Amino acid sequence: MEERRSFFSVRYDLIQVGVPIPYDLFVNSSSIQDKEKFVRIFPTGDVLSKEDLENYHQKYIHLYVSENQRRAYLRSMVQSNADDEKKANVIKSAALDYLNNIFDKDNFSTEYLSQSIEGCKEVVGAMVDVLDNHNIDSLRSLIGNLSFHDFYTYDHSINVSMYCITIYKAVNPKASRNQLIHVGLGGLLHDLGKIKIPTHILNNPGGLTNEEYQIIKQHPDFGLDLLINGHCQVSEEIDLKIISRVVHEHHENIDGTGYPKKLKGKEQIHLMARVCTIADFFDAITTKRTYSEVLSIPEAMNTMRKFRGIKLDPDIFDIFDQHVRYVRAEYTRDLKLADSFDPTLPYAKLPIEEIRKVEKELDFGKITLVDTIKKKKG
Ligand SMILES: [Fe+2]
Ligand SMILES: [Fe+2]
Repeated sequence: MEERRSFFSVRYDLIQVGVPIPYDLFVNSSSIQDKEKFVRIFPTGDVLSKEDLENYHQKYIHLYVSENQRRAYLRSMVQSNADDEKKANVIKSAALDYLNNIFDKDNFSTEYLSQSIEGCKEVVGAMVDVLDNHNIDSLRSLIGNLSFHDFYTYDHSINVSMYCITIYKAVNPKASRNQLIHVGLGGLLHDLGKIKIPTHILNNPGGLTNEEYQIIKQHPDFGLDLLINGHCQVSEEIDLKIISRVVHEHHENIDGTGYPKKLKGKEQIHLMARVCTIADFFDAITTKRTYSEVLSIPEAMNTMRKFRGIKLDPDIFDIFDQHVRYVRAEYTRDLKLADSFDPTLPYAKLPIEEIRKVEKELDFGKITLVDTIKKKKG
């Protein structure tokens, strides 16, 4: 099958000099828009000098690598001396390309999905390597510094994937690279089923009817369906069963009140899915999306702690809590998210109940209940 996009642009400063390059480098010699003409300037195995690159940089803004050499490019990029932020940005843009393919509702096909999952695996492998020197705490600042995309689901999926890898490593320090790739893929694809949900429902902050919410709640089933029943075919190293469990179970609550199956406890909910639930929750309340308010880290942790053993696996939460370095500030709001909070929903405002404000200047500290779901649904 023809690749949908056969070349991608690469940064000059992330090309290794002084060692043989493991991919062909191209420039676009055409000046006509939409009529690219890619010409190979350096073949695989060439050793480039700084001057070589500078010469080309004066003539061409971009260098390109063929899509089918993306894997080799990512590997050598991860090994370069560039800082992790640059590397993470490259990995993120590769992930965006694949997510774009996957979430392209008009051109969806199982073949594209299978092909994109293979690509995602390469991206997540590179992510695992870059995150090797990161803990949950440094990952937070890394994520904060990455460039963001205007479609929330993509940024969110990539963040969740990175949190999944890092939390899983904290839970299981002996985790194999293969396990980390699988939990990362689970995180990247956790909301896959949303491609079957009409966009106007997904992007409707706060105004969902009960019927619409029921439709959104089907996304774990849709995701499972696409991966397992949709004849998705991937290489042997990818275990779709494990990934589909993350996709299917990431909204299950540890106390058995989640959806779609009301699974309960560690026996029924896969470890990787329980990790994903925490990653999903944390990213939904700390990363800015359509609503204006996001929680500070102490507020987010206080809020999540109230769901410890209810929505969230208490042991994984505790490990997460120990690894997130934050000032357990006395001067912080004591918040409670409505029990109905669902990280999937596009809230205009987080459904927060303020229990009390701690400390001074807060004489207006009465309880404010902002539960959009309850209000809207009546
Ligand atoms: Fe979800
Ligand atoms: Fe999510």
